[in-house]
This record gives sequence, structure tokens and C-alpha cells, in this order.
Amino acid sequence: MHAVPPLEQDTVDATVDASPAHAAAQNAAHAAATTAHAHAPGHAANHAPVRDLRRVGIHPDYWYPLAWSHEVKRGKTHGVTFAGDPIVLARTESGKVFALEDRCAHRQVPLHQGVVTGESIRCGYHGWTYDCSGKCVDVPYLGRDRLPNGVRSYPCQEIEGLIFVFPGNAEFADQRPLPDLGSVADKKYKTRRFGRPVNCHYSFMHENLMDMNHQFLHRKQMGQMRARSVGRRRGEGWVEVDYTFARMAGQQPFGEAIVFGQSRRTGSNNDKDVMTIRTEYPYQTLQIRTTEQTLVMNLWIAYVPLDREQRTNRTFGLLSIRKPGIPGVLNLAWPLLVWFTERIFKEDREIVEAEQRAHDSQGADWNHEVFPVINDLRALLRECGAPDQLVGAGTGDTVVIRFWDSRHGNPLANT
Ligand code: FES
Ligand SMILES: [Fe+2]
Repeated sequence: MHAVPPLEQDTVDATVDASPAHAAAQNAAHAAATTAHAHAPGHAANHAPVRDLRRVGIHPDYWYPLAWSHEVKRGKTHGVTFAGDPIVLARTESGKVFALEDRCAHRQVPLHQGVVTGESIRCGYHGWTYDCSGKCVDVPYLGRDRLPNGVRSYPCQEIEGLIFVFPGNAEFADQRPLPDLGSVADKKYKTRRFGRPVNCHYSFMHENLMDMNHQFLHRKQMGQMRARSVGRRRGEGWVEVDYTFARMAGQQPFGEAIVFGQSRRTGSNNDKDVMTIRTEYPYQTLQIRTTEQTLVMNLWIAYVPLDREQRTNRTFGLLSIRKPGIPGVLNLAWPLLVWFTERIFKEDREIVEAEQRAHDSQGADWNHEVFPVINDLRALLRECGAPDQLVGAGTGDTVVIRFWDSRHGNPLANT
């Protein structure tokens, strides 16, 4: 880990031409360099092409939450996707959850349309049956000595009301720890679980939470707040930033008062609480500490790509609020807190979806980022993302980048 200076000590290249024409030329050069594995004219020989961040696939060799526990009922299946890969989650009659490729080895139909019988899934068509390791254990019209190959299984663990799956190379699952879920298990906190699909690439979500300079977007909910970046750090696989906030005008919203358990006045002397936002790939956390170092809010959040092009994601968030001294106050105020946070999330969702649409209609990531924290974050997401795989002519501007193909072998072999 090494400390890096706050914003004012960073240099920003003000001479960069951010015009679309310039960016288009850069993008074309980038595409040429990428596809031909050669440097485009005008690029310095040692200047590697930069990957379009919005096309960088999330790396599959991590644990991702794919469902809330309550969505996978006992004796039932539940179909989900990870970056376009169909996955079926099933809870057996003994209560155990497992994850398989959601594709019957026989005719590829989704296994989530089948039924859980005992500790297995039986496909709804001809009744081929798979155990929790994906092995085919029964074909009703064949003898047991002639069973075909089964389907892929995924490492799967259930903690704190979330079902985590390891969608990448299963050999790495044991080495990769499950994430620390913040204060969700701590009785001193009350946790709100939230999440929904958002129609954008996960990188927009990371940027949105980490860049607190967008308070203007929330001016109707929060009044006039000014965020100040007071420090940032980065290390292997992570980036974090500290902020303080000052209310420049308007009233403190009630939802915010619940979080802090205190009233913050308008004016300059109200910016002592520190918010730390961290992306520890591929997860994100946001913590608020008071001057007494009390952790009053602790958010853990993950963004799981749904489609193969990763233009949609499902958010899984655990928002833990420290209970104030008077018992029951937080429960009473909870509906208001939910209402307040929902309104903030709605504004964020609408703007990141607008960013995705702009990226798609304009053809590439031409962002002109001026905030060093976000440039660090963008570099981190590029470095940690899945390697690009070019698969041929594109549907849009240049080439299609297939993010990840996790299917190993031929699922129909020996059938
Ligand atoms: S398609 Fe699944 S058993 Fe035939
Ligand atoms: Fe926001």
C-alpha cells in the first residue's frame, strides 16, 4: 500500500483534447492496434492501447452474490445469470443450496423449469436427474450403467442471507476468500438489504458511488452539500478515498439525521464526519465514521453483470446503520430511511443508465475524467477485469469482445 496525495496535488493534463473528433480518431487507432496487434500510426511505440473500460468484462474468478436466500425456496429452483451464463440455484429438501449450469445436458432446456426431488434436480422434459455436483444420476428410460455426462457445477456458499457463487475457474475458489460483509452480523447495527437490476455496465456503478462530486444530482433530496476529498490510498487490488461534507445551504434531511443520530448545522463547521469509499475488487464499501471514530454507517455492495455484453447488472447491497442509544428509535424511523435512500438510488440509477445509453449511441468511452480518484479506480477496474477475447465482426462500432466463456468441454459429450 502507498499513500497518494489528495486531489489538489495531482496534475491533470489540461492540454488533452477531449473533443469527440479527437476521441474518435483515438478510438479508431485503438481498435486498429487491438485487432492487428500492432501500434497505430501516431502512437508511441511503448504506448499500449487502453481498453475501453465499458467493455471490460468483470473477472469471474471471485465470489459473486447471485440471489438472496429468500429467493431460493426449499425444494425449489431459481434461474439466474452471470454475464450471460445461465445458472440454476436449487435448495434441496434438506435445505442445502447448490448451483449448476442452467442447461440440461440432453436438449439444453433450462433446468430451473425442472423440479427438485430430494437432493437433486430432475429436468422437466424427459426427467434426466442431476445431483449437486452436476452428475447425471438418473435417466428414467436408460439403465443406470449407461448414464450420460452431467452438467457443470459451481462452488456455492450461503452467508448472511446471500447466495454466493464462484462462476470462474473452480480450482481457484478455495484460495479466494468470501468477502467481508461489513456490519451485517453485528447486533449493534440494523441492516437494510436492497438491490435491483440496473441497465448499465458495472464500472458506472463503481464510479457513481466513489465520486462524491455528484452531490448536485441529489440537490433535491440532500440540499446543497459540498464534498471534499481529504485523502486517498491505493494498493494491490484496491482503491479508497476519504471525504468530508459540508452543508452549504438548506435543511438537513431527516434520513441523514437518522444515520448520524445528531443534527448537523448549515455552515462551515459541520464537516467532521469522514466517509471512506473503497473498491476492493470486485466489491465496494462505504463507511462513515464520526470524530469519535464510531462507525455509524457501513455499506457493502456488489454489482453482478447479467448479460453477456455486461450492459446490465444486478446490485446487491447491505446497508448497516448503527442503532442509536434509545432502543426502537431506528425501527420507527426505518420506513423514512428506506424512502430517503430509495429516492437517492433512483436518481443514481437514472443517471448511470443515461451514461450507458450515451456510451452505446456514441460508440465508445470518451470520458474526460479529471478526478484522480476516479482515474485510479478506472485503472484498477481495467487491470483486474477479465482478459479481452476478440471473436470476430461486431454488431456495432468495431469488434465484439466476448467477455468470458465459462463452458468447458462439450456438455453433450457421451450423450
Ligand atoms: S431435455 Fe432435459 S431430460 Fe430431455
Ligand atoms: Fe449518488
